[in-house]
Amino acid sequence: MGMNKRFITVSILLALFSSAALLAQREKLLMDFDWKFRLGSASSVKEDFDYGLDAIFAKAGSATGAIRSNFDDSGWRTVNLPHDWAVELGFVNINNDDVKSHGYKPVGRQFPETSIGWYRKSFIIPIEEKGNRFIIKFDGVFRDCNVWFNEHFIGRNLSGYNEFSFDITDYIQYGRRNTLVVRVDASQYEGWFYEGAGIYRHVWLIKTPPLHIPEYGVFVKTEVKEKSALINIDTKVCNQNGAGETFTIVTTVIDKNGKTAASISSKKIALPGDESGVFTQRVTLNSPCLWSIEEPNLYKLVSVIHKGKEIIDRREAAFGIRTIKFDKDKGFFLNGKRVEIKGVCNHQDHAGVGSALPDRLQYYRIERLKGMGVNAYRTSHNPPTNELLEACDRLGMLVLDENRLMGSASEMAGQFETLILRDRNHPSVIAWSIGNEEFAIQNTPVGKAIAESLIRIQKKLDPTRLSTYAGNNGNSFEGINEIIPLRGFNYMNISDIDKYRKEHPDQILWGTEEASTLCTRGIYENDKEKGYVSDKDINKPGWGSIAEKWWKFFSQREWLAGAFIWTGFDYRGEPTPYSWPCINSHFGIMDVCGFPKNNYYYYQSWWTDKDVLHIASHWNWKGKEGQIINVWVQSNCQSVELFLNGKSLGKKVMEQNSHLEWDVPYEPGVLEARGIKNGKTLTAKVETTGEAAKIVLAPDRNIINADGEDISVINVTAVDSKGREVPIASNLIQFEIEGKGAIIGVGNGDPSCHEADKYLSGNYKRSLFNGKCQIIIQSLKEIGDIVLKASSEGIETGVAVIKTVESPIRPVTNNIDFGAYRHLGYKKQISYQSAYNEKYSAGGKSGLVDGLFGTKDFLDGRWQGFEKNDPVYVIDLEKSAEIKKVETSFLQDINSWIFLPVEVCYSFSEDGINFSAPQAVKNDIPLDKTGGIIKKFSLKVNSLKTRFVRVTAKNIGFCPDWHKGKGGMAYVFVDETVIE
Ligand code: GAL
Repeated sequence: MGMNKRFITVSILLALFSSAALLAQREKLLMDFDWKFRLGSASSVKEDFDYGLDAIFAKAGSATGAIRSNFDDSGWRTVNLPHDWAVELGFVNINNDDVKSHGYKPVGRQFPETSIGWYRKSFIIPIEEKGNRFIIKFDGVFRDCNVWFNEHFIGRNLSGYNEFSFDITDYIQYGRRNTLVVRVDASQYEGWFYEGAGIYRHVWLIKTPPLHIPEYGVFVKTEVKEKSALINIDTKVCNQNGAGETFTIVTTVIDKNGKTAASISSKKIALPGDESGVFTQRVTLNSPCLWSIEEPNLYKLVSVIHKGKEIIDRREAAFGIRTIKFDKDKGFFLNGKRVEIKGVCNHQDHAGVGSALPDRLQYYRIERLKGMGVNAYRTSHNPPTNELLEACDRLGMLVLDENRLMGSASEMAGQFETLILRDRNHPSVIAWSIGNEEFAIQNTPVGKAIAESLIRIQKKLDPTRLSTYAGNNGNSFEGINEIIPLRGFNYMNISDIDKYRKEHPDQILWGTEEASTLCTRGIYENDKEKGYVSDKDINKPGWGSIAEKWWKFFSQREWLAGAFIWTGFDYRGEPTPYSWPCINSHFGIMDVCGFPKNNYYYYQSWWTDKDVLHIASHWNWKGKEGQIINVWVQSNCQSVELFLNGKSLGKKVMEQNSHLEWDVPYEPGVLEARGIKNGKTLTAKVETTGEAAKIVLAPDRNIINADGEDISVINVTAVDSKGREVPIASNLIQFEIEGKGAIIGVGNGDPSCHEADKYLSGNYKRSLFNGKCQIIIQSLKEIGDIVLKASSEGIETGVAVIKTVESPIRPVTNNIDFGAYRHLGYKKQISYQSAYNEKYSAGGKSGLVDGLFGTKDFLDGRWQGFEKNDPVYVIDLEKSAEIKKVETSFLQDINSWIFLPVEVCYSFSEDGINFSAPQAVKNDIPLDKTGGIIKKFSLKVNSLKTRFVRVTAKNIGFCPDWHKGKGGMAYVFVDETVIE
């Protein structure tokens, strides 16, 4: 007992000690907040901040224009990431297939004024951090971006879908302003669907010690035995010290309850300087909790590098234990059990936010898909956002993880490698897709050769999974299909899958893309002019199939592993079968907001055990009295009887994987379905409603985290005076928000709606489309209430109150603003009445009231230099205020040509025209040879009322005789004018 107690105390102490020791080590800081953003231009040099005029690649650090650290970006917009500027733009009607397939947004080579975006962010890395290594990691930027850090070019990335990082260690200015500048060029498309534009995924600053586990440095493979699991861990360690290092690796497996499930320590490892190595460890875990779709159990792997007692680096990686197997005769197996792939393909955009999804929205979408019975997600046609995979891991969704441009030359092979290295620990990922519908190469020797190279890369980096290829090449075998282990069919309608199976009985087969059924939510007639297709399972393009056709085919063939529907959600672009004014797709089983179309209930009937009984068509057909309305019922009941106003319209028997139909002469009232499912009666009804009388707001969550990132998705409907949802309402809704949140986007699922998703003014509005729209609100980093009001003319306003609660805030980089002194003049308008030299500019025009103070080093970017003349500037407090003190800092640096002024004068004004007589504060220290002085010139006033404060400093004029610059002009360097 005593022994035990002592042991526990020691281990607690150790734990405390280790977390304390850790603080100084690895850090992952989110860089999403407070970027400065502005569109540049691909046609006007001037509008692109002179980019390209100067030879910026001639010499290291020779930046000009907006790349300069002290460039004045005060007039730029402040944005938070993830950010997609394409979704902020209007629509353009241009007859061009690519513009159309991208959703008629003015992004691309034809729109040079709206296809370049500049992003700037300044932040501080404290002096104490010297000695660590730093990388900046971009999770995804659309697209082709050049990146500068402290005026040095640090790299370029082409694809809009892979993550990339740069080591910035050598360029850091510790304790001072560091400026990251990104020029994003979205002129070229990568896909044939809406892609967004800008830094639309997270950016991170990652700090590690020189001896560390790098990105993708931990690879966990698991092998499930009878009652245990063997965990194989490869840990990569980089030694970025010049000298050799000796260390041990301690790896611990933590279960979902936070308990240590296994732990292993390596022997002492010696790694020479500037080398890296991969070290393998194996542990056995008894009675493992397997990861599955129903129970997505995850483990945490903690990898620690120890040097003696000291913890040098510590990394965490989530993983899951499960077995996967594809069988040519029986399809796919998860943990030994056959699982039919009931999959969906998706693009990444959502209503309101374009491709810039807050993390929580990934969960929202996956939850919606799971609700319909989907068990697999194909990330068509590109590497997904990390958080999507995390959502799939945590919620239990299988993933087919797809590459973008197929190729084996270094750029494309590199993208594929990054995808695998990044994603291989995710238990949700069951296969890699090397490409999709590569018409030019899929049936050729070149295609085969590229596929072979990619498969080799995959086997090397991840021997635990197989690769597939999504081919729309029917029954062709020659080319990629000859060697692909998992043969993917895009569309049974353009293939003879049974014949292929006979010809190639040894290949594993599945449907990488099926359906492409066309539906518009809540619409019951095709309308070419408006761009709507009926929301019944009847329309499809030539290559596609209606839901009932493909699903019946696949569900009857055990040797087909299942398939992925094109698509789970509508997306912007590809408005097939229409074009303008239609701007988004109709393929989704849900619209862009995630509102179900009628096929949702078809799949839900046959893909889940839920009780499903759904009537397709509302019952608001005013003007169609006596006409036949074709009514569909989706259900997994064995039989269904339909009633109109209490009169039976007949009972029908449901065939497996089908639906039922009635032709009903319209008469207002109630249409009711009664179904029998295993002896149980289910009922559903639609009824004729009155006009919209009130707006109803339905937040998906009423309590969200006050972390500046969390969101609530609020679905908006209108009800009539009896509280019944009006399915055809189209009222224009105005939104008003107050409190601790902001609106980040609106949508309504109408594929032909040209209303904005983003209102930068904050004045949000949106029409209901067939009774619904959606608004997404995001928390600030403040606890309290968010009150959202939705109003529309002539009807009752809807109100939702969302609480934001205390929650961990992800650590962020210290903004240059961080710890700024918010005095009365802080960030107020400043106008210069004397010329100043931009070269010595204090971080833009407002640098003298930014609440931050320069150091004795004039190069620290905080000082504003004035040569020879007397600095004069006026600060506008915006309204009259009572002040007690004005104080301005000046620098002397005799190693340069910078001298304290002779005197500083302050004068005041209420109207900005008539100023009081200047009050002088003399320099009371003699002009001498002391270098590096900061002197504050302070004036106390007696509760003076003023709106404008003018500052004038008297320059000494010329350098004194004893100075190296004797007789030459002298400079005055000014910093913060504090007004209290
Ligand atoms: C497929 C293609 C998808 C999408 C779909 C529309 O051929 O892979 O990206 O375009 O057709 O039906």
